[in-house]
Amino acid sequence: MSKKIKVGFVGAGWMGSVQMRRITEHNDAEVVALFEKNVERGKEVLKSLGLSEEILVDDYQKIVNNPDIDVVWLVSPNSFHGPQSIAAMEAGKHVFCEKPAATTFDDFCKQIELERNNPNLKTFVDYLMNFDSMENHLRQMVAEGHFGKITQIQINYRHPVNIAGDKVWKLDKSIMGDAIGMGIIHSISAMINLMSPQAKPVAVYATNLKSQVRGFEAEPIYNILLKFDNDATGFCFGNIDSGNGYDAYHNLFGTKGGFVFESQTDRTHKVRYWSEKSTDGKWVWPLDPERCRAEGMEKLIWPEDTTTPDSGDVVEHQTGACVGHFIECIKNDKKSFLSFESSKNVAEIGWAAQMSAATGKEVQLPLNTKEAKEFFSGS
Ligand SMILES: NC(=O)c1ccc[n+]([C@@H]2O[C@H](COP(=O)([O-])OP(=O)(O)OC[C@H]3O[C@@H](n4cnc5c(N)ncnc54)[C@H](O)[C@@H]3O)[C@@H](O)[C@H]2O)c1
Repeated sequence: MSKKIKVGFVGAGWMGSVQMRRITEHNDAEVVALFEKNVERGKEVLKSLGLSEEILVDDYQKIVNNPDIDVVWLVSPNSFHGPQSIAAMEAGKHVFCEKPAATTFDDFCKQIELERNNPNLKTFVDYLMNFDSMENHLRQMVAEGHFGKITQIQINYRHPVNIAGDKVWKLDKSIMGDAIGMGIIHSISAMINLMSPQAKPVAVYATNLKSQVRGFEAEPIYNILLKFDNDATGFCFGNIDSGNGYDAYHNLFGTKGGFVFESQTDRTHKVRYWSEKSTDGKWVWPLDPERCRAEGMEKLIWPEDTTTPDSGDVVEHQTGACVGHFIECIKNDKKSFLSFESSKNVAEIGWAAQMSAATGKEVQLPLNTKEAKEFFSGS
């Protein structure tokens, strides 16, 4: 049996405790150390997973300096992702990093530089929506040309992020960073991956609004418009301040088909699409087996276990799939499609949207690093 990958885990809060559970469910990895500032919570989570309290450490350096640890798994609050990942890579560890990759532009640049200079190190940013099976299905359909050329694509990310109890740090700009990195980035990442077989983003125009309902220091509402190099347009309504349910509405409009995902309706009506190639131009509801059968479209029924991105509860997210993906990357010495460097184009849209909202101007992509460094040095 090959050696298990040894994980140094950081931050066993709401999301961290779910990810730790997924690691313990994996045969090829084990958690050998935990750094959790809240000692009582750390012990509780370890106990609930049948792990020894002995592996709790009181200093992050004990994770970084432990020669037995292969990978550092960061699920700490946002502002720690940059410094903790940089320290881990400098110590020769692979890094799993929750989004956002970093809350300062300098840390973001440093992460990419470290990855480029250390190709043996595997990294990953948790843009989790990409592991949803509906997203996978849709990505394949776009790549196979079921919708022709996509000319317009909208993906929203609107739901009030969880600020309950000690998650109140999310109201503090110096810890949370910006609202795009806090959550809206999920829909940007899904949009870029869906469009990737056809086009690349070349410009961003964004506006934002101050907090309307809760006390976010950073603007929690963004409207982001993307231009692609094939003249297609992408749009995202992002709002982490308020909402009633999880709105990850998708609307793809192509020359030969269209696709709509409504997150806030009953399962059978959540997905509908039409395609000249595969549905003879008729709308079909692939999550409604009865309707598909009645209309002679049974071959288009999606499997019962198809997941859709419509829950604000991380327990229901595809954490098992993303944990499995990153462990496979390490085992097989393979770069993830969501490494710091591979997902750079997604994070850059977040930085560019902040610049655009502040200046009222469109920002070109790829981002001019020198201009962005100057812009963010004052913030
Ligand atoms: N990918 C996703 O869909 C998704 C979903 C939820 C949360 N997240 C991310 O997970 C991270 C944690 O969010 P959460 O909602 O679980 O928050 P949380 O507050 O529940 O958990 C954070 C934990 O980190 C601990 N902590 C505080 N300072 C620390 C430090 N310096 N080093 C290590 N640990 C520290 C806290 O005690 C707490 O237990 C955030 O970065 C968030 O963006 C991602």
